[in-house]
Amino acid sequence: MAIIYNPNKKIFSLHTRNTTYQMMADRYGYLLHLYYGSANKGLMDYTLAYADRGYSGQPYEAGNDRTYSLDTLPQEYPTLGTGDYRNYALNIENADGSECCSLKFSRYEIKKGKYRLKGLPAVWADEKEAETLEIVLKDSVSGIEVSLLYGVLAEEDIITRSAVIRNTGEERVTVRKAAAACLDFVSGDFDVVKFYGKHAMERNVERTRVGHGTASFGSRRGTSSHQYNPSVILAGRDTTEDFGGCYGMLFVYSGNFLCEVEKDQINQTRLLMGLSDELFSYPLEAGEEFTVPEVILSYSANGFAELSHRYHSCIRSHVCRGKYVNTERPVLINSWEAAYFDFNGATIISLAKEAAALGIDMVVMDDGWFGRRNDDNSSLGDWYVNEEKLGCTLAELICSINSLGVKFGIWIEPEMVNEDSDLYRQHPDWAIKTKNRAPVRSRNQLLLDFSRKEVRDYVFGQICAVLDQGNIEYIKWDMNRSMSDVYAGNLTYDYVLGVYDFLEKLTSKYPDILLEGCCGGGGRFDAGMMYYTPQIWCSDNTDAINRTKIQYGSSFFYPVSAVGSHVSAVPNHQTGRNTSLNTRGITAMAGTFGYEMNPALLSEEDKSVIREQMKRYKKYETLICQGDYYRLSNPFADEYSSWMFVSEDKRQALVNVVRLEVQGNMAATYVKLKGLKKEAEYLDHSTGRLYTGVALMETGILLPFPKKEYEAYQIELTEFEKISGIRQ
Ligand code: GLA
Repeated sequence: MAIIYNPNKKIFSLHTRNTTYQMMADRYGYLLHLYYGSANKGLMDYTLAYADRGYSGQPYEAGNDRTYSLDTLPQEYPTLGTGDYRNYALNIENADGSECCSLKFSRYEIKKGKYRLKGLPAVWADEKEAETLEIVLKDSVSGIEVSLLYGVLAEEDIITRSAVIRNTGEERVTVRKAAAACLDFVSGDFDVVKFYGKHAMERNVERTRVGHGTASFGSRRGTSSHQYNPSVILAGRDTTEDFGGCYGMLFVYSGNFLCEVEKDQINQTRLLMGLSDELFSYPLEAGEEFTVPEVILSYSANGFAELSHRYHSCIRSHVCRGKYVNTERPVLINSWEAAYFDFNGATIISLAKEAAALGIDMVVMDDGWFGRRNDDNSSLGDWYVNEEKLGCTLAELICSINSLGVKFGIWIEPEMVNEDSDLYRQHPDWAIKTKNRAPVRSRNQLLLDFSRKEVRDYVFGQICAVLDQGNIEYIKWDMNRSMSDVYAGNLTYDYVLGVYDFLEKLTSKYPDILLEGCCGGGGRFDAGMMYYTPQIWCSDNTDAINRTKIQYGSSFFYPVSAVGSHVSAVPNHQTGRNTSLNTRGITAMAGTFGYEMNPALLSEEDKSVIREQMKRYKKYETLICQGDYYRLSNPFADEYSSWMFVSEDKRQALVNVVRLEVQGNMAATYVKLKGLKKEAEYLDHSTGRLYTGVALMETGILLPFPKKEYEAYQIELTEFEKISGIRQ
């Protein structure tokens, strides 16, 4: 049993293989948080400390007991208006305008399997893999009921949290703020790790000490955003990759969010993750309910690498869906950086011919194939094929490509409309706008109001009409602007649910099509999208050196199988930097591999490098996408970027190194490996040298001295006993 209830003390314990989570409905009915950490059979109510706290509020029922205050006790789902002056998970505005909701324990239920959330992506698991705890809390005055949902995936060391808010009262209320999870810590000194960035430079890593007051980050852009990923790590001050305690929170949601970390007056720490309270006020009529998207929690006592492995496994096995989750994915060549808008059918066919000769599986026709779209000023919304531009029908184009033995994929951006489009001319009111104001433009486009069913249905029909024209095996779903002109408090949430509804219909109707998410690169790189799109274009920045940083930051929560990564041309289109094809290939192999260039412009020598890369990627695809991923350096601090993949049985490993800096009279570089068997011997395929696991992990592998900048190395290791007939 993963979930245990102690009826005498009203204590709930959630046990996973290595962790325990505990809470208690106390003498007044408040749900107090007791513990989250390493597996623990004890009852942790002894940690509740009661002392006279001046200027902290007491609930009325505590009488004159000034030692009882929700301002200092650790809580499970704190609300505004109860005498807790810290950040809160829930704020309800009542019909009379007051902002108060005092939740008391009402009932609970333990169920087999994992709860589902209406209209929202969520971790999925079968009855053997998960249990659900539902704790119902109630505010007796307003009739607000909150179901706190806990999904326990014991083997994965994962606990999920969500909340459903129900209005069982008589009058309309408004949800003003709703978090999915709160973690209160009565002791400890922490660092917070967040992943910040910008377009073309997403998920940089920043680690800062949690001081007094609140540090918060989030998104008010309508998407989860390039600027802050909806994920956070709270770590001990001395925690490293392989040592120390750390907690993760990953929001399974693709819109506005808020993460708050606060150290309070008595040095306790509170971490909250949920929906942003800005641009949000959700009305709930009597009888209605509101579902908060879920947060995936995990705790590791052994550093960031273990925490990452848990999230990678959970996303691969319990978030992503569809036939491509654990199967090999096509290696694709995308037309964007090869031709931008300047292509016709012959251009795409010639890319396909090059692909066929190089062993690349698929050609993807990116932006520019529809309406009158020859630049980014027009035609979004007009999802009909520009046959004049292509010089043929879509069906003819796909047939020609397939006859070369190459698959075909296509780019779409369904959520958008250009003012210069037939769709906008017919339905100007379908774009998101605020009454009496001109809308904010971005990339010369407006957002369609996907909270409206008739808008979604129309676009869905248009897109299906395209998809039905031929053998389309891949879709790149793009989204190239942030939301503005938020005309109502329900829009930001209902829009995201509209996108999910569209994606659910699309993936159900076309289960064999592989979807890749995209949002100006990695602007919606989140677990919510991964429920529908098992891979996401990680960044519009294809520069190999910048990519090592972007992919490093992405790797803390997201598995390599979800990271879209391509080899592009040099000088790089975003940075102007020159790197070798080898360096670009090794970097792109830390993702779902592909190309983004015109191979016709390459030398024969480069083409043969690509053929070798293709062979190597195919050979190691399973190890790369399903093996354990280890970060071996920090590219934000070190002179090289390094990561490795290790098979589950630890017999096979692929080590990757990209030099970021060279100096005169270089010191020798030894890269310490991880995850191998100490006592085993490993063969380095390229040098024929044998190493013990302990040597590789404690002294490290000696890199060649660099002859030029940005050199990269890929080292294939196999456990020696397993190879017959090879001697040192
Ligand atoms: C976005 C994507 C690119 C490309 C363009 C097309 O920027 O991230 O990969 O598809 O749109 O307009």
